[in-house]
Amino acid sequence: MSSRTRLSFTTTLTKANDKLTIQISDPSALSADNLALATWGSSEVLANILHRFTPDFSSTGFPESHTDNVIPVLELGAGTGLVGLSAACVWGVGVVLTDLPPLVGALGANIAMNAQVLGRCGGAAGVGMLDWYSPERMSISNAGSDSSSVSSFSGYESSRARVILAADTVYSEEHPELLVNVVVSRLEKGKEARLIVCYPLRVGYLDHIRDLWARLEGAGLVCGEEGREQIDGSWDEDTPYEWCVWGWGSGE
Ligand SMILES: C[S@@+](CC[C@H](N)C(=O)[O-])C[C@H]1O[C@@H](n2cnc3c(N)ncnc32)[C@H](O)[C@@H]1O
Repeated sequence: MSSRTRLSFTTTLTKANDKLTIQISDPSALSADNLALATWGSSEVLANILHRFTPDFSSTGFPESHTDNVIPVLELGAGTGLVGLSAACVWGVGVVLTDLPPLVGALGANIAMNAQVLGRCGGAAGVGMLDWYSPERMSISNAGSDSSSVSSFSGYESSRARVILAADTVYSEEHPELLVNVVVSRLEKGKEARLIVCYPLRVGYLDHIRDLWARLEGAGLVCGEEGREQIDGSWDEDTPYEWCVWGWGSGE
């Protein structure tokens, strides 16, 4: 079985190297956007570096109150959900994992499979449909997930997020513009907001990555931190992975 269809992933939970295991239901029968559902290397990289970052989630009001109406974490193009589920556990917050309609059922199933570990870590996860072509429209459903975590997200369909996560979401020439539009539409305005992106440095896609950076800067975002990681030998590729953390420049 390739790493992309592996059903269990170990995520680093803390700086002290505590680990947790995230279970993924068999993704092999599903596809969206001409891509078979799978867990990509960027997801494993990003899931394992989240513990290095300490976003400020104060005043997001989740889950006790909806007054501030800010989603703590929104994941774009979540695929099997490894990153969003890991974020919910690492940071102990609410995460909405989004993707295209054909994948939402599997995402919900993965949330349900990890309900116990989410509960132990104080995290919660909901599943949403968010097509990058219509970033203003998001539906949050309870497909396959336990009702207590989903009900916490009702009323958040139009909300912005304190943190947006995106792993391996730039692999065509339309994606930089689409993703930046989603970020402009969905990232909270304010100095605590963060966008954390991870992608493989595949030679054929470097122009798309450059385009993404130029468009993020053009939208008023500033990269505060970046780095590169190599993935372990269980993956059939030796592409380096780059990650970067963005916040709004002084104008926002
Ligand atoms: C290469 S996969 C990465 C999946 C996951 N983040 C990972 O790293 O394992 C790209 C993901 O983006 C999603 N995607 C592609 N186009 C999209 C769109 N227009 N709106 C929302 N999601 C989209 C795909 O369905 C897929 O789940």
